[in-house]
Amino acid sequence: MALKAVLFDLDGVIVDTAKFHYVAWKALADRLNVYFDEEINERLKGVSRMASLDIILERSETDYSDEEKAALATEKNENYVAMVQKLTPAGILPGVVDFLTELQEAGIKSAVCSASKSAGMIIDLLDLNGYFDAVLGGADVSRPKPDPEIFELARDRFGLTSDECLVVEDAYAGVEAAKIAGMRALGIGDEAILTNTDVVYRDMTCFNLEGVKALF
Ligand code: BG6
Ligand code: MG
Repeated sequence: MALKAVLFDLDGVIVDTAKFHYVAWKALADRLNVYFDEEINERLKGVSRMASLDIILERSETDYSDEEKAALATEKNENYVAMVQKLTPAGILPGVVDFLTELQEAGIKSAVCSASKSAGMIIDLLDLNGYFDAVLGGADVSRPKPDPEIFELARDRFGLTSDECLVVEDAYAGVEAAKIAGMRALGIGDEAILTNTDVVYRDMTCFNLEGVKALF
C-alpha cells in the first residue's frame, strides 16, 4: 500500500512545547503543594489538558470539584499560552521543514493531529500553515489520545484508508492511538519510552521520505 498522508503530532514532534507544558504544570503543582517531577510529566505527553490535571492530582490529598478543576486547568493554560507567545519559526525542530517540503513535492498530504487546543495558534506562530493540508487540534475531537479519533478524522478528511497513513508521534499515548486506528507509527524521541512502536528516531534529521516509504 502506498504512503498517501503523514499525520504529525505537534508537541515534541514539530516544536518543543513540552518544556512549556512542564513549567506551567509544575507552577500549578507547586502552588497546590502537590509533588510533580519530570518522570510523572512523561505520562502527560500526548494526553488532554483535563486528563493531565487528573494525573497530577493523583498525588493530592484534596478533592477538587469539577468546577475547581476547570479553574485549575485554566490557570495552567493561561500560563502556558503566555509562555508560547515567544515562539517563532526558529523554534521549529530540526529536519521538520525539509521533511514537510519533501512531502509537498511528492504530493503526499500532511496534517497536524494534536491533542492541544492551542495547535492552530502554535502553527500560526511557527508560520507553518502553508505546509499542512489540515491542522486538527484538541477542539476538533471529543475523545483524546489514546483514542484514535483525531487520526481517523484526518484520514477521513483526506478520503484515505488507515494503511495509506503514517503517524509521527513522540508520546506513548499517541502511538497507541495510531495503532488502534490501524496506522503505522514512527516514533520521535526515546526508544526506552516509545516501547510500543518498532521505529524510533531521535529527530526528523534522521530520516527522509525515501526511508519512510521503505516502511510501506
Ligand atoms: C499535547 C501535549 O499535545 O496536548 C500534552 O503533549 C497537552 O502535554 C495536550 O496536555 C493538551 O494541550 P492543551 O494546549 O490543549 O492544554
Ligand atoms: Mg507530542
